[in-house]
Amino acid sequence: MSHKRKKVTVVGSGFVGSSCATWILARDLADVSLIDINEGLAKGRALDLFSASPALNSNINLKGGSDYSLAEDSDAVVITAGLARKPGMSRSDLLLKNSQIMKSICHPLKEICPQAIFIIVSNPLDAMVSLAHDILSVSREKILGMAGVLDTARFKAFVAEKLNCSVKDISALVLGGHGDSMLPLIRYATVGGVPLSVLMSEKNQEVLIERTKKGGGEIVSLLKTGSAHYAPAVGVVEMLESILKDQKRILPCSALLKGEYGEKDVFVGVPCQLGGKGLEKVVEIPLNTEEQKLFQNSVQSVKSLIKEMKELLN
Ligand code: LAC
Repeated sequence: MSHKRKKVTVVGSGFVGSSCATWILARDLADVSLIDINEGLAKGRALDLFSASPALNSNINLKGGSDYSLAEDSDAVVITAGLARKPGMSRSDLLLKNSQIMKSICHPLKEICPQAIFIIVSNPLDAMVSLAHDILSVSREKILGMAGVLDTARFKAFVAEKLNCSVKDISALVLGGHGDSMLPLIRYATVGGVPLSVLMSEKNQEVLIERTKKGGGEIVSLLKTGSAHYAPAVGVVEMLESILKDQKRILPCSALLKGEYGEKDVFVGVPCQLGGKGLEKVVEIPLNTEEQKLFQNSVQSVKSLIKEMKELLN
């Protein structure tokens, strides 16, 4: 029998990383290695979580530490390390610091687990996934950024709250970069199969679009010392589950475009089919003229961010 247990390495044991490990444990999804520059933090969180496994009836092994050899044989690697936003700070302000951190992480991972599928979570998201791709030199099937799943989840939650309906009935999609230029595709949103435009005034739709775009910032200003982690971690685990269980779900992720949506060589949020091979397909959906324009604007802002990052790093 050649069936082996799945293994996920999570780099960064802060709130997002340890929340990812929590959900992997709760869903009995894979063994977990938690890696952090702060060895005690990674070891302590891993031990704490491992001690939760009997009550959760979960069978996974959890290890923690600062040594990258912990990542050996990983099926997937989730990179969450980096500074979180403080109030008033934009995602771009994090650019230089987090790109240095990303470089220092990707170099050892490239040697230790080049076969893994990588999910990048650090901000500014689309720039970080682009940088990680440059260093890891893996095919586009094996590297994705987690943002669209989170932005879409927020959008769905806000719609459910406004319409007083079940989040379970909402189907929606947020495309573009993970920033103020993201594009909640209201035209494709439905509640129990009914288009959102039938259920909600245009004015209310606009309010929800704006709230979704600023969803991360709203939480940062409430928390004052940190940013969201529950919903980002659940977003990662949704992607991981589709990959590790070959579910072939279609989820919005930051992926490297190769001509889809008229764009090339840029990571940006689009609907992706995720399965055992990682990114199995970029799903192209027709955009009207207005949506196309907003999508191109978003791509443009991602490109400027990447250009700025490259200049800062030189
Ligand atoms: C957010 C940050 C993590 O959207 O980007 O909450």
